[in-house]
Amino acid sequence: MPEHDHPPSRYRLWPPPRGAVMGLAVTGLATACIAAGFAYVGGFLSPQRLTQARIIDRFEQFNGIHPGFRRNHAKGVCIAGSFDSNGNGAVLSKAAVFERGITPVTGRFAVAVGKPFVPDNETEVRSMALSFRLRDGEEWRTGMNDIPVFPVRDAKGFYQQMLATRPDPATGKPDPARMQAFLAAHPETAKALQTIKARPFSTGFANASYNSLDAFRFVNAAGVSTPVRWSMEAVDPFVAETTTTGSPKDVNYLFDDLIARLGKGPVQWRLVATIGTADDATADATVAWPDTRQRVTLGTLTIDRIATEAPGNCSDVNFDPLVLPAGIAPSDDPLLSARSATYSNSYRRRAAEAKTPSEVQVPSAPKGATP
Ligand code: HEM
Repeated sequence: MPEHDHPPSRYRLWPPPRGAVMGLAVTGLATACIAAGFAYVGGFLSPQRLTQARIIDRFEQFNGIHPGFRRNHAKGVCIAGSFDSNGNGAVLSKAAVFERGITPVTGRFAVAVGKPFVPDNETEVRSMALSFRLRDGEEWRTGMNDIPVFPVRDAKGFYQQMLATRPDPATGKPDPARMQAFLAAHPETAKALQTIKARPFSTGFANASYNSLDAFRFVNAAGVSTPVRWSMEAVDPFVAETTTTGSPKDVNYLFDDLIARLGKGPVQWRLVATIGTADDATADATVAWPDTRQRVTLGTLTIDRIATEAPGNCSDVNFDPLVLPAGIAPSDDPLLSARSATYSNSYRRRAAEAKTPSEVQVPSAPKGATP
């Protein structure tokens, strides 16, 4: 059953109870209301309304339909390892993952494009998605990107940016005038893109750091709620990528390097929470928080296994940012619910399709264990 489906409720259809005629009228009215409700939620009554389905339709229109693949971050590989908490987070959050001790983790590295066979040197943004299996039976899923801020602040901005950057059929490239018009209407995106461009990308997945970008809230045992953003900061030294386009590098160089790196030994990241203040925007992922904010190191992530996407591993996981344990709550960031709804739609579509093999093939899993 897809992850977001719920079993249907049961109704008694026959024999009709007393007062059936009145009951049927009421039922008919109720059914009409429910049908109208579904039509409204589905966007059928207002085709111009922005829905998750419309966003996913645009991904498919611009990237093509690749059955069984994610509609964004389509090219990826599965990983596994563990998180070793140092206990520092327990004062901020009651989530079991921040008690001192080890939590098993599975996840996925990907490039942030909707094309599963895209050459790595045509991409810029890399992502790390993780699922923590907490000892109390709860789960924490997070998807992070290696950029310092997100280019848009809400679903509408995301959709309009997609339209502005779509390839012009005449040239095969985005129309610069359309992009200029979009940026004029969205100064927050123009500013965010400056921040993103000012920071170099790393040479690979292993030496990149990944950011939640969205704000969340840590809630401790006393009910105190603290705004946070978190990052996985690479332990491997950062090396800046000098060129991304037109390089002679192999089409899968990012993934091949990661597989080779893991062949030499585990790769580590430090989980760091940046603590927001009352002055910091929690509802706007385009704005960076000041560098002076308090940072708390919560523990170390160790990734030691990697495997090709396959039924039953990360391939089947929807890294919905709202799958959170008690002790981590959503903020008022509108991107969170937009992401959750859109990922769900992408998941439903891809889960119903037969998937062709992924581009990234891991020759053999180190130490005989697969994620
Ligand atoms: C409205 C804004 C956004 C939209 C519409 C969007 C859309 C999507 C979609 C459709 C997927 C594929 C989901 C699946 O089939 O499993 C995806 C994956 C992903 N997105 Fe977003 N995204 C948005 C914002 C963000 C933000 C702010 C981040 C933050 C860091 C992010 C990080 C990721 C990551 C890491 C994945 C890959 C998860 C994986 O490996 O399975 N996205 N996104």
